[in-house]
Amino acid sequence: MKRFVLVLLLVIAATSLIAAQDIKLGGVGPVTGEAATFGVSTKNGMTLAVEEWNAKGGVFGGRKVKLIFEDDKGDPAEGATVYTKLIQQDQVTAIVGTVMSKVTLAGAPIAQAAGIPMISPTSTNEKVTLVGDYIYRACFIDPFQGTVGANFAFKDLKAKKAAALFDIGNDYTKGLAENFKLTFEKLAGKNSVVAFEGHPSGATDFKAQLTKILAGKPDVLYVPDYYNDVGLIAKQARELGFKGPMVGGDGWDSPDLVKIGGTAVENGFFTNHYSSADSRAIVKEFVKKYQAKFGAEPDALAALAYDATYIMLDAIKRAGSTKGSAIRDALKVTKLDVVSGKVTFDANRNPIKAAVIIEIKGGKQVYKTTVNP
Ligand code: PHE
Repeated sequence: MKRFVLVLLLVIAATSLIAAQDIKLGGVGPVTGEAATFGVSTKNGMTLAVEEWNAKGGVFGGRKVKLIFEDDKGDPAEGATVYTKLIQQDQVTAIVGTVMSKVTLAGAPIAQAAGIPMISPTSTNEKVTLVGDYIYRACFIDPFQGTVGANFAFKDLKAKKAAALFDIGNDYTKGLAENFKLTFEKLAGKNSVVAFEGHPSGATDFKAQLTKILAGKPDVLYVPDYYNDVGLIAKQARELGFKGPMVGGDGWDSPDLVKIGGTAVENGFFTNHYSSADSRAIVKEFVKKYQAKFGAEPDALAALAYDATYIMLDAIKRAGSTKGSAIRDALKVTKLDVVSGKVTFDANRNPIKAAVIIEIKGGKQVYKTTVNP
């Protein structure tokens, strides 16, 4: 009897030891706020990936993953708060997040200073990974995305004159507009960008800027903004008589774009990270599993959050350790085939990946083409 009790106590002790050794993974995304569909998709993608890893028996040594997800509300100050909370209070091993470049730029210095490896699924602004050697991302960067958009406008849409409207308080939209302008002017000539207008963050009336823009008679309007702004801008541009095509970036990717913009976003095209119509087996499998679990088609945010989680857990597995520096070193030599493509990192911790161009047609996203780097 004594022996039995001893064995029982040992089993209980061992079980709690293993449970205590769950690897804590921080997740961050904007589940509420100006672009809430981004956060919902992101959280879903991470949750699915973590479940799959746990079902396979964990990361290493039987250690499972505990995802601790925080809402950054799409706000840089809130982002800084949740990064600090995850690192200091929860003592996470690593962070997958966050979505918007302006918020990631507030969180990344906190992770870097604490030596906590992080990977943003979707922040495309060039400055993000330049914060330091612990900061990675799972997506291409805006100098590439802007170039693809400009090439498409010039070569496919045959635009000779372009105009851009962007959010002056948002690193992503401002940076992407600049990247577009640079390439378009190289292709179409020096004064081919006839208007380059900024609007304040949170604006809902864009008529003053659009009137100025339309006076220059652009063939194409570049709108590198998030879907909520894009929907309103498109409506107002059409009201003012603009009939030409509009081109944008990954920030258009939301089921709410068409809900807000209606028919105004038709003849709209945007660069994105992935298409659910991709015929690769890994994509089909992911779309099937995601649909079964969440009852929705996964957008690029869901795919990249899923991928980023795989990339981070793969690095922790190869490191065989929860030590920040060991994970950082393992991330550096990542070689993984994920939903959004093959991933290896360049010297600035950016993956080199293809972009897809999506057209809004009949209220739906239609895959047009893939552009390799
Ligand atoms: N690339 C955007 C940013 O850096 C975020 C985003 C990615 C939004 C993908 C939608 C889809 O702010």
